[in-house]
Amino acid sequence: MTAMLEVRDLVKRFGPFTAVDGISFEVQRGEVLGFLGPNGAGKSTTMKMITGFLGPSAGTVTVNQFDALANPIMAKTRIGYLPEGAPAYPDMTPASFLEFIASVRGLKGRQRRQRIAEVTERIDIGRVMQQPIETLSKGFKRRVGLAQALLHDPEILILDEPTDGLDPNQKFQVRELIHELAPEKAIIISTHILEEVSAVCSRALIIARGRIVADGTPGELMGRSRFHNAVVLELKGDNKPDFETLRADLVRVPGVASVEPDGERRVVVFPEGSATVTDGVSQLAAARGWQIGAFYVDPGRMDEVFRSITQGN
Ligand SMILES: Nc1ncnc2c1ncn2[C@@H]1O[C@H](COP(=O)(O)OP(=O)(O)OP(=O)(O)O)[C@@H](O)[C@H]1O
Ligand SMILES: [Mg+2]
Repeated sequence: MTAMLEVRDLVKRFGPFTAVDGISFEVQRGEVLGFLGPNGAGKSTTMKMITGFLGPSAGTVTVNQFDALANPIMAKTRIGYLPEGAPAYPDMTPASFLEFIASVRGLKGRQRRQRIAEVTERIDIGRVMQQPIETLSKGFKRRVGLAQALLHDPEILILDEPTDGLDPNQKFQVRELIHELAPEKAIIISTHILEEVSAVCSRALIIARGRIVADGTPGELMGRSRFHNAVVLELKGDNKPDFETLRADLVRVPGVASVEPDGERRVVVFPEGSATVTDGVSQLAAARGWQIGAFYVDPGRMDEVFRSITQGN
């Protein structure tokens, strides 16, 4: 399968500083690729180069097998871009802003009216269409930015922190929207919300200091967590053992490597290598007559993977 978007050895230098230091990846139709990384890692700069807002110092961007740098108009017609901070003209209303974008995008007549009506409905900005953008709340400004990115129904969507500043309901709606759009498009989103990666991304890149430091499905990344396959246990009742007693008991279960407290009430039982300790722990619990408040196998913790991979970056 040919990639809808291909990025090869992309580099961006600002004077002596290298913000993006040789990034390569492909995105296929149907994929939602997440960019994760600490502040200043180079996520937005990479997006700006893909969308043609910044010229790369080196490297190539290929859109549907065309060199995007040599064919910028072709690339821009196929890409919808929500820039960081969703800049828009502050004294325009969303209605006039979308009309303006529609003109820039060459949308005319019935198709133009239909597209504006469709994104207005889909992004749920109907009630603010006549209000100057500078007077809109942060979340509504973001929504107007999203509407602008979707207006020409592009095949490739580059969304820089699309849910930043949105309330929980609206975050959910934007994730639903990305799900709905995904089968037909190639989508890249950047985010600092780690749950978002499992919620919407089929694959994620962790970027640090301008380089890709991890690349995998959310499941693969979670598999790198030291919590992956650990058993989390919470006991309740008046006669529950204290942590040290509990630990002394649990470490004798075959396959258990260590036991650590997890917050106020829970403990994590870490297995040795890929050992399964669920049965052993539940047999011990039954034998001791512990009252179980919670018992589950941890899928892995994205925040811990993120920290361990990007530490020092
Ligand atoms: N025009 C510029 N001139 C000089 N340095 C720049 C310029 N644009 C970006 N940088 C630097 O490049 C680095 C990468 O910035 P970028 O905005 O891509 O990070 P990011 O990963 O998007 O971070 P965040 O999570 O904070 O949005 C930063 O150190 C930034 O200060
Ligand atoms: Mg950024």
